[in-house]
Amino acid sequence: SLDKSTDVVWHQASVLRNEREASNGHNGAVLWFTGLSGSGKSTIANAVDRMLHNLGCTTYVLDGDNVRHGLNADLNFSDVDRVENIRRIGEVSKLFLDAGLIVSTAFISPFIADRAMVREQLPEKQFIEVFVDTPLEVCEQRDPKGLYKKARAGEIKHFTGIDSAYEAPESAEVHINTERHSIEECAKQVVDYLHLSGFLA
Ligand code: PPS
Repeated sequence: SLDKSTDVVWHQASVLRNEREASNGHNGAVLWFTGLSGSGKSTIANAVDRMLHNLGCTTYVLDGDNVRHGLNADLNFSDVDRVENIRRIGEVSKLFLDAGLIVSTAFISPFIADRAMVREQLPEKQFIEVFVDTPLEVCEQRDPKGLYKKARAGEIKHFTGIDSAYEAPESAEVHINTERHSIEECAKQVVDYLHLSGFLA
């Protein structure tokens, strides 16, 4: 039987987030990239991740490859499923934040209400919205996966920007213009924001 005087009692979260952050040497943060398909979210998020990693930060990227093929493999692109997609990614981000990481998420996340929901669940200032503001015409011209062409031909339904809405952020912490700046410059803009707002020494 249990001897309360000697048996180890496991507390929930015996290592606190600020202790993890102290060993990492920086605070946790969620860099929430949002933008149209083909806007450059994933490319810039990965470039930021590389820069932060090289600076010695503990980081991770969540994007379609590791989420829509795994955790969210049961979801499609209906409005309801997109909401659930973002809700789950928000929860996973929260866990990463609790582990003291700087996590970059690269999902279209087309709805203002869903991004606001994630923001509200996280500590103030640790949700950093990064709007990759590449216009539809430019994304459509780049069309790296040929999906816009298929959407225009009616072969893909509910495609963001074509027959499914994208609600642009009104006051993102970082606003990125991929037409005027290189990938490197865009990534640096995000890292500079982290420096200026005191996340990095
Ligand atoms: S969302 O809206 O946040 O749930 O979307 P996300 O999880 O980021 O997935 C977007 C990628 O899925 C591909 N794809 C589609 N995008 C938009 N609309 C439709 N109908 C669609 N079907 C497939 C597309 O390649 C997106 O990739 P990215 O990286 O954004 O270009």
